[in-house]
Amino acid sequence: MYKFPYKDIISTKQFTRNDLENFFKIAKEMENLVKTGEISDLLKGKIMASLFYEPSTRTRLSFESAMMRLGGRVISVADGTNSSLSKGESLEDNAKINSIYSDISVIRHPEVGSAERTAKAVTKPVINAGDGANQHPTQSLLDVYTILKENKRLDNLNIAIVGDLKYGRTTHSLVYLMGLFDNISFSFISPKELKMPEKVTSFLKEKNISFTETENYIEGIKNADVLYVTRLQKERFTDLSEYEKLKNRFILNLEILKNAKTDITIMHPLPRVNEVNLEVDKLPNAAFFRQAENGLYVRMALLHILLNLSEGKSFSSL
Ligand code: NCD
Repeated sequence: MYKFPYKDIISTKQFTRNDLENFFKIAKEMENLVKTGEISDLLKGKIMASLFYEPSTRTRLSFESAMMRLGGRVISVADGTNSSLSKGESLEDNAKINSIYSDISVIRHPEVGSAERTAKAVTKPVINAGDGANQHPTQSLLDVYTILKENKRLDNLNIAIVGDLKYGRTTHSLVYLMGLFDNISFSFISPKELKMPEKVTSFLKEKNISFTETENYIEGIKNADVLYVTRLQKERFTDLSEYEKLKNRFILNLEILKNAKTDITIMHPLPRVNEVNLEVDKLPNAAFFRQAENGLYVRMALLHILLNLSEGKSFSSL
């Protein structure tokens, strides 16, 4: 039986290809469980603390739904202004308290490194549900699971990523994760003000993974097997006039897609603001709502692994 060698999920840099291959088998089992309508109590008696100090719909609700689908229960902070962090309590003290009341914590917080600090403060598992503009590892696990299902492979892919590559944490996590597979290349499409950070491009250079950077949408998607669209992260801009200037620069529509492979997989972590025209939704290869659905299966798998497999229980208990 495969055992995940981690207490916490903090960064996609922590994974190996072997981890992912085993993980996706468990995610598939979870998908089957939901689709066949089986009732599961794999997490009966367990409590998840759902700690969201930044807005969220999909991540919070899919984590909470995942926990409940497996028979567990949830306590939550859905609005940071209701937490003692807003009184000035440290992340570490807050984490210790949350971990007394629960078996696992899922945290989204605007500070880079917040999940790592939380994980270091407690002995129970912690999952990073987004730490500022840094990483969003569980989003990338579901993104890669989606690519596997849509493209039927994870090797030999050209992945175009468009939008806010500077502040878009999902894009950073995705690059580290897809970089584990063979013959992957990236095409980064963004305004020059929102380019992929140096820490990500230097990772690619170290690993000899090829990438291009362009401001030309049509040029950037012409060889792509996957197009990963992101919104501009308005909440991270220090100068809102800069956001206003850039926000309509890259809008995907059917006209632009004429320049891409007809079966290109179109993804988006959501929420979408205006960067994907509604006419794109009708394409069979527009995968963004299926992608959000996959978030449920992937998060069920993560909770099961961190809460059960680390205790030596076999997955066949399903
Ligand atoms: C993303 C995030 O929070 O980083 N949303 C999500 O979790 N699906 C992307 C975004 O907010 O743009």
